[in-house]
Amino acid sequence: MNSDFLKKLEPQHMREMVDCMYEKVYTKGQLVIQEGEPGNYLYVLAEGLLEVIQNGKLLGEMCPGTVFGELAILYNCKRTATVKAVSQSHIWALDRQTFQTIMMRTTKARHEEYFSFLCSVPLLQGLPEEKLAKIVDCLEVVIVTQSTEGFAEPKAIKTLGVGDYFGEKALISEDVRSANIICNENDTHCLVVDRDNFNQMVGTYEELQTYLKEYVEELSRSDERRNALPHSP
Ligand code: CMP
Repeated sequence: MNSDFLKKLEPQHMREMVDCMYEKVYTKGQLVIQEGEPGNYLYVLAEGLLEVIQNGKLLGEMCPGTVFGELAILYNCKRTATVKAVSQSHIWALDRQTFQTIMMRTTKARHEEYFSFLCSVPLLQGLPEEKLAKIVDCLEVVIVTQSTEGFAEPKAIKTLGVGDYFGEKALISEDVRSANIICNENDTHCLVVDRDNFNQMVGTYEELQTYLKEYVEELSRSDERRNALPHSP
């Protein structure tokens, strides 16, 4: 959980990784990783102390709990530094193939989850499956935190819950944002797709363009209807 990329794994896949790791013991002065070599393992230091050396220069030390050896595996490059045991060290190793297989399982499971989520969004239901799948590839998860200081209380016009979507109007019409979206609960997670990606994915799809244009016009009409209503005192 200390590792930025490993903590994104689904819990069951993280458990699988732990199950596939095995312990290696290195004596003082022994090299765990040699700079410039191909990388075949990902490591977690369980016990002991390691130093990181690059071009003969000491870059730092690693203490228990550190994940290392990830760069060559994630970026398919040569080892970027040498890692040497300062004292006897117990290290958990995971081979490259197993690591990549488990990472792919998490990616696939998440892809399926987000795909079915997007299928339930009315705005996107008209899109062909391959377009939806591409949007899924561009989605990011963000956490919206509540900001209160210095903001006047806006008038609530709608409450959004799980599965609702928002932000589409300005995205489709090149308009400015027509409302504030305010987070009412801590730890609210939103899936986000940026304008460039959205345009690339759906921009060439003429039928959808027409549908979206009508959709935005209908949204504007409902805004006008709402504004025409008498305001409560
Ligand atoms: P990798 O390049 O696969 O093998 C050497 C590892 O050393 C590398 O992955 C990182 O895990 C680690 N490493 C590289 N550079 C640094 C650094 N500047 N500080 C700490 N660790 C590093």
